[in-house]
Amino acid sequence: MTNSKTGSNHGVNTRLAHTGNDPRSFYGFVNPPVVHASTVLFPDAETIESRNQPYTYGTYGTPTTDALNKAMDALEGSAGTVAVPSGLAAITLPFMAALSAGDHLLVVDSVYTPTRNLCHGMLARFGVETTYYDPAIGADIEKLMRPNTKLVHTEAPGSNTFEMQDIPAIAEIAHAHGALVSMDNTWATPLFFKPLDHGVDISIHAATKYPAGHSDVLIGTVSANETAWPALWKTFTMMGICAAPDDSYMTLRGLRTMGVRLERHQQSALEIARELESMPGVARVLHPALESFPGHALWKRDFCGSSGIFSIVLDIADSSRHRAKAHAFLDALEIFGLGYSWGGYESLAVAVNLSDRTIALPPKEGPVIRLQIGLEDCPDLLADIERGLAAAAAA
Ligand SMILES: Cc1ncc(COP(=O)(O)O)c(C=O)c1O
Repeated sequence: MTNSKTGSNHGVNTRLAHTGNDPRSFYGFVNPPVVHASTVLFPDAETIESRNQPYTYGTYGTPTTDALNKAMDALEGSAGTVAVPSGLAAITLPFMAALSAGDHLLVVDSVYTPTRNLCHGMLARFGVETTYYDPAIGADIEKLMRPNTKLVHTEAPGSNTFEMQDIPAIAEIAHAHGALVSMDNTWATPLFFKPLDHGVDISIHAATKYPAGHSDVLIGTVSANETAWPALWKTFTMMGICAAPDDSYMTLRGLRTMGVRLERHQQSALEIARELESMPGVARVLHPALESFPGHALWKRDFCGSSGIFSIVLDIADSSRHRAKAHAFLDALEIFGLGYSWGGYESLAVAVNLSDRTIALPPKEGPVIRLQIGLEDCPDLLADIERGLAAAAAA
C-alpha cells in the first residue's frame, strides 16, 4: 500500500505528500478510493472459512483506513496503527487493551479532562485504580510504581497549562517495572515529537485536530510499537470502534498539508505569544517554546517544533473578578471564535476550567484563557487580543 519511492530519508513534507496510498494499486488515481463497506465477499467456501484474503469485514479495515494507518505508521515509526471515531476513543482503546480488574494506572495530573473522567467514571467501576502524578515527576515516578502498575499515561505538553514531561526518564522506569507507556501526542503531532523514539509504547492522536485540520472531522489514531501492537489490534477487533470511511479519507487528505499548516501555526503562535509576554493585563504566557516557560528545557531537548495552541494567564488581583473579566475578554473578541476543538484553520479562545487538578494546580494570578492560533494574519489576531484585554481591564 505504501508508496515505496518515499522513505524515512526524505523530508517530512515529501513524506506527507506521498505516504499511505500507492496510486498504482488504484489505476493511477492520486488518492485512494473511499471504500464504504460492511460486507466483504469471498471467492469460495474454503477462503471464507480460512479468511485468507486481505480484507474480511468492514470493522477490521478497508483500503481507505489502511492508507491513513500506513501514513501514520510512517510518521510515528510504529508497528501498527488503528483509526477510531474520535480522539477520546483513541485514549480509551489502549487503556482497555492494557488494563484488567485489579490493575493500577498512573496518569499525569495535567491530563485532558475527559481522560480523567474515563478513569474515575468507568475504569474505577471495572476495578482499575488510578493515581495522578506531577507532570514534573521525571524518574521519581519510581516511587509511585506498584507491582500491579500496568500502564503509565503521559501527555506533553499537558492540556490547557502545557506542562512538559521527561518522557524518556518516565518510560525507562515504567519499563523496568513491566508497565507500558502511552502518550497523548495531539499537541505536537508526529512532526514535532515522535513518542516511540523516546521510549513510549503507544502514541495517541486526536487526529480531529491538526491532521484533519479543518474543524469538520472527529477521528483518533493509536500507533503502537511491536510490544504493544498485538493487544491493541486484538482489542480493536473486539470493540468494533472503527473510524468511518469519509472521515479517514478527509484525515489522509488533511495530512498532505499538515506540514505547511503547522509551520504557519507555529510561527504565528510564537509571534503572538512573545508579544503577549510583555502586554499589560497578561500575568504569564504558558507556551513550552518560550524561554520563560518552566518546561522549556525539556521541550528544547526532545521536541523539534511547537504547534498553535497555548494559554495566557490574565493579571487580575481580585479573585472575585476572575470570571467576569474572563467573560469580558472573550465577549470582546471578533475574530477568535469561542469553542473547544482546536487544530483547525480558525483561531479560537476559551476560558479553561482547572478545578479537577490535584497536583498541577491552577495559576493564582488570574483566569487561564487558552488560545488556538489559526491561519489568519497575525496583526489581525493581535488586534483582536488587544481588544479582549482592553475589555477585561475595563470590566
Ligand atoms: C489533548 C487532547 N486529546 C484528546 C482530545 C479528544 O479529541 P476528540 O475531540 O477527537 O475526541 C482532545 C480534544 O480536545 C485533546 O485536546
